[in-house]
Amino acid sequence: MTRGRFITLEGGEGAGKSTQRAALATALRAGGLEVVETREPGGSDGAEAIRDLLLTGGADRWSPRAEALLFAAARADHLERTIRPALDRGAWVLSDRFLDSSRAYQGAGELTDADILALHRIGSADFFPDRTLVLMLPETEAEARAKARDGESTDRIGGRDRAFHRRVADVFARLANEEPARVRAIDASGEAGLVTARLLDALADLLP
Ligand code: TYD
Repeated sequence: MTRGRFITLEGGEGAGKSTQRAALATALRAGGLEVVETREPGGSDGAEAIRDLLLTGGADRWSPRAEALLFAAARADHLERTIRPALDRGAWVLSDRFLDSSRAYQGAGELTDADILALHRIGSADFFPDRTLVLMLPETEAEARAKARDGESTDRIGGRDRAFHRRVADVFARLANEEPARVRAIDASGEAGLVTARLLDALADLLP
């Protein structure tokens, strides 16, 4: 039995990650793979409970350090309870967000990228995806899509200001440049089917 592959989808709000996760899963299943779809924060009972703590409440509910630790704790549980067991039985796992979201959202302010990676070593023993697909969309298009989806009801983190989301986008672009073997920037504009084809292309070398 060969181990499955762990694929993560990343990007800012409104980039189309959940739509593309579903489309990618359908395409991979059609090729005969078992696919488990999951998301962060969440993806296991414990991590879903932590998700509520993270995404609801006032903007200042958590300090930056407490917030980063909660994401790392949720990730540790998600990995142990959901991701590893699926990979071990040969399934592919597609996760809507993972570690790189913490690097982008928590690692470019009071905490550094090195801090987030240190938390990942402690929480998740340095477990990295086999491939990370970053959906890239021009800012105006991403804002319009996020607004169409969420209206004015954004969550604690999604509702932060434009400068914050710009910084997040910059980190994702930097990760794609610095870790090209793992992280691929994918153009998320245009018709959904075209984007799915681009994503499949970026996984071609991993397919059995
Ligand atoms: P979600 O409703 O899943 O938003 P989206 O559809 O944009 O993925 O909410 C997840 C929010 O949590 C999103 O604003 C990004 C944020 N987040 C972090 O700040 N750090 C993390 O490590 C993760 C996984 C998510």
